[in-house]
Amino acid sequence: MGAIFQSLGRTIIAGIILVLILLGIAGTYGRMGDHGYWLFFMRWLHILAGVMWIGLLWYFNFVQTPSMPKIPDEQKPAVSKVIAPEALFWFRWSALATVVTGLLLAAMVGYLGAALSLQPGARGIGIGMWLALIMAFNVWFIIWPNQKKALGIVQVEAAEKAAAAKMAGMTSRFNTMLSIPMLYCMAAQSHGGF
Ligand code: HEM
Repeated sequence: MGAIFQSLGRTIIAGIILVLILLGIAGTYGRMGDHGYWLFFMRWLHILAGVMWIGLLWYFNFVQTPSMPKIPDEQKPAVSKVIAPEALFWFRWSALATVVTGLLLAAMVGYLGAALSLQPGARGIGIGMWLALIMAFNVWFIIWPNQKKALGIVQVEAAEKAAAAKMAGMTSRFNTMLSIPMLYCMAAQSHGGF
């Protein structure tokens, strides 16, 4: 057991093996030729990616940012040079994975165009998709470029660094606000929320 949990890679593989055992117990292998099964599978991938993205967004907003003023200056580099760059790596790539799996899911359900053009019946999920697309745009084109300056990955003058940190922080807060209605739309479409 210890050998599994000493490695993140082995821990993830163990999680996948548990799913495969579960599929055997539930008799799911017989359904793998169905479109319905792969629709579900894409939904599962989408939720995995989305949880990682929004989990990290909420980590930044609920934990890291409020804790920074309480950390002594000489210890701050542990966050800015080690933890934040690693968290931002998983943050931006899980945002992209969520967009890709979400768009594929909508295409597989058969309402991608209807949702994006906010047609009746798909308007709720369409609004959720647009909110999430705006959030993903913010991650890649506002938060990440500004964080690179704020964390010293890209060297800039002190004033520009401070302005970049402010812009990244405010945009991250904006995304936290959007995450609340966005998640309502995601879950509401198939579960009676509209
Ligand atoms: C551009 C990005 C996104 C797109 C295109 C997208 C698309 C979709 C679609 C088409 C569905 C299926 C709705 C249905 O008919 O039941 C869905 C469900 C869902 N999405 Fe997203 N989504 C995006 C972002 C996110 C994010 C950031 C999260 C965060 C966790 C998320 C979590 C979920 C959840 C929990 C469901 C509900 C699954 C269910 O109840 O069956 N999505 N999404």
